[in-house]
Amino acid sequence: MKIAFFDSGIGGLSVLHHAMRILPDEEFIFFADEDNVPYGTKPRELVMKYVDDAFKFLLTLNVKAIVVACNTATSVAVKEMRRRYELPIIGMEPAIKRALDLYGDKRVLVTATPITINGEKIHSLIDRLGKRDIVDLLALPQLVDFAERQDFSSKKVADYLREQLKPYDFKEYSSLVLGCTHFNYFKDTMRKLLPDNVQFVDGNEGTLKELMRRLDLSPANSIENHKPKVEYYFSGRRVTSADELETINVYLNRLDDMFLL
Ligand code: DGL
Repeated sequence: MKIAFFDSGIGGLSVLHHAMRILPDEEFIFFADEDNVPYGTKPRELVMKYVDDAFKFLLTLNVKAIVVACNTATSVAVKEMRRRYELPIIGMEPAIKRALDLYGDKRVLVTATPITINGEKIHSLIDRLGKRDIVDLLALPQLVDFAERQDFSSKKVADYLREQLKPYDFKEYSSLVLGCTHFNYFKDTMRKLLPDNVQFVDGNEGTLKELMRRLDLSPANSIENHKPKVEYYFSGRRVTSADELETINVYLNRLDDMFLL
């Protein structure tokens, strides 16, 4: 049986990309809800409906687990999906704990979509960690649109990021949390705007650790010569055209380049 990765759009490829490296013997389904992206600026009830529709579709494909490779969908709907469906459902949340564990008590800037930033889930996480005084939250909704248009490093993107990051004195920060899976495509553009003391932290590793724990899987010893099988879907439609598969490759290649930044 296959493992499904689900996102509003192509952001979730950053989680799949990581899974393909460490679980090369698994078969995957990747579902991007391209008909409805973006989620992060829409009403929560609508996002709940989109997620439920996607789950209903994925369950017809007989998957053994669903990874919600979307912080926004997790914030809105993961609790309800776990109540409705019995299979393992792995959610994703901004890796604030990981940033604090790695870098101690320096300031952390958490970037995500407006839904995630305003949602109860992230605020109860920050309260649980007891670190409200050193965690700042910043919504960057336009990055989702830029990513969907494959615009990762134009002047427009750099100007937007420069303006958004301007208020922060980054000397005081240890890290910037990429709390939206679409943001991984912008690491090189952000890198140019941030001092070297600021590290990127994302939730990909933690999410996959949880997937492996739930399915009792172990990471591969070597990733050479393995190319896991992936079926791609845009909303309910299987992606088969050479053009669209090539577009997916452009994203995966970009993620190769972003991996070590
Ligand atoms: N990639 C998604 C996330 O991780 C959301 C992007 C969107 O649709 O707004 O939050």
